[in-house]
Amino acid sequence: MTVQIHYIGHSAFFIENSEAGILIDPFISHNPNAVYNIPDHKIIDILVTHGHADHLGDAIPISVKTGAKITTIVELAAYCAQKGAKADGVNLGGWINLSGARVKFMPAFHTSSTPEGDYAGVPSSVLIEIEGTKIYHAGDTCLNSEMKVIGECYKPDVALLPIGSYYTMDIKDAAIAAKWLNAETIIPMHYNTFPLINTNVEKFCYMISEEGKSCVLLKPGEVFSI
Ligand code: NI
Ligand code: MN
Repeated sequence: MTVQIHYIGHSAFFIENSEAGILIDPFISHNPNAVYNIPDHKIIDILVTHGHADHLGDAIPISVKTGAKITTIVELAAYCAQKGAKADGVNLGGWINLSGARVKFMPAFHTSSTPEGDYAGVPSSVLIEIEGTKIYHAGDTCLNSEMKVIGECYKPDVALLPIGSYYTMDIKDAAIAAKWLNAETIIPMHYNTFPLINTNVEKFCYMISEEGKSCVLLKPGEVFSI
């Protein structure tokens, strides 16, 4: 089976194949632009890059409802467990086995707090290896030289990059990130959800194609198959 990447909206994705069902940063009920049609039984794992409400989103209620396990940084995992979710606390650097895939949490340069404003550990990005394909979800981050390490050591096939500026990289920095990450396919995220992060995504795609890479522009609800 091919690997399917469903775009839900903002930084939320669902990645699946015949064995894996991985929901990432499920910001759904408070995002009016989200398109969410993933059947509960398909969700096996939930990954959360950091504690901000537009990333933790509905992770806890979805875990409680479906029994899917949240994997995230230890402090945030403890918070999720306290709220009744099934949660595994991890840290940056090691491969973590999930159903049908493995993941490695990597740095992101940002902050992370719980919805109550408490410390939620370090923010993260996450590298997902599924059927030999590597997908990198950058979380919320500025441009940073760790991306060169990820590009050199792991060479992701697909990179999901925030481009909306203000809280994260803008299109210019994200285009540099795409180059450093050494990824052939770029999917932009974290833009146009609210006015503060409105950006020119067509211009970003043009910059990416100028680099000889493919920019896959997904609308919420659309699916990219590898
Ligand atoms: Ni954030
Ligand atoms: Mn965010």
